[in-house]
Amino acid sequence: MERKAHYWRHHRPYRLSDYSDLRHYLASSSIGLCRHHPDQFVNVREVKPVHVFTHQYKAGDTHRIVLMSDLHWDNPKCNRDLLKRDLEYAAHNGLNILINGDLFCAMQGRYDGRRMKSDIRPEHNTSTYLDDLVGTAVEWFAPYMDNIALVGYGNHETSILKNCETDILARFVRGMNDQGGNIVLGGYGGWVVWSFRMPSGNAVSYRMKYFHGSGGGGVVTRGVISAQRMLAQVHGQSCAWQGHVHESWSMVNVVESLNNNHTPILREVLQIRTPCYKEEYGDGTKGWHVMRGAPPKPLGAYILELNLGSRKVNARAYPLNI
Ligand SMILES: [Fe+2]
Repeated sequence: MERKAHYWRHHRPYRLSDYSDLRHYLASSSIGLCRHHPDQFVNVREVKPVHVFTHQYKAGDTHRIVLMSDLHWDNPKCNRDLLKRDLEYAAHNGLNILINGDLFCAMQGRYDGRRMKSDIRPEHNTSTYLDDLVGTAVEWFAPYMDNIALVGYGNHETSILKNCETDILARFVRGMNDQGGNIVLGGYGGWVVWSFRMPSGNAVSYRMKYFHGSGGGGVVTRGVISAQRMLAQVHGQSCAWQGHVHESWSMVNVVESLNNNHTPILREVLQIRTPCYKEEYGDGTKGWHVMRGAPPKPLGAYILELNLGSRKVNARAYPLNI
């Protein structure tokens, strides 16, 4: 059921020369020229509201997906060891990875009032900051291109789009796909549908609404209120997934409705809030995060586990603890 990991790719030693011309390519091209067909434009910014993954299945199968958000990969406070561990787990187990915004932190440009000289990695401390963010990200994530299935926007990527008029996320996806990936560029919000089919024609599906998130989350309520608000404005989802507030929880809401036979039915809506990979609290002595009274935050990813019956999908979500 789950895709087999391409071990040759993940176990072969990484060679910088594999992508030696990539940074230059990305630095010099920001408008979507296809590398293989440089006379053709690629519409990398086309974002579809719904993406469907189709799989064959038999009753009793389990399908697992890694959900992660708020990587803030380029921030020196990103726990890359943990991130790499989770990506490797997905690769070794052949799991698809979905990323729900803020893959980039991207706060160190000259336009950004939040920039600090201590908060930039040396390889990004260049006069081509945004280009190098994209180029180094493609290098770093390339070993996982077979597993990353969808990458959506967060407020950090859309902030760059607004202030600098370049779409670093679309450029990242294009760079990965140009190396052989098959990654869908998601939206700030959208839908993912898993459609499972049997050779006999039987089929079940699972529908997830994703949204990066908005608002501050709340020190006490931790983003639960906005998740409940989503229940008021979005119907039909089996699961609702948000990130953004760097909290970690999942919960089940049960809603009542009438089916076509006018019989009351109860339906579960699984809600997930994935944490982050940026550890900003440290020892609690200083820094913007500490001074504004923000608490230590959980790190990591979630597993969405779909247990497939002949007529129904039973789902649960839990932190990826290896
Ligand atoms: Fe974030």
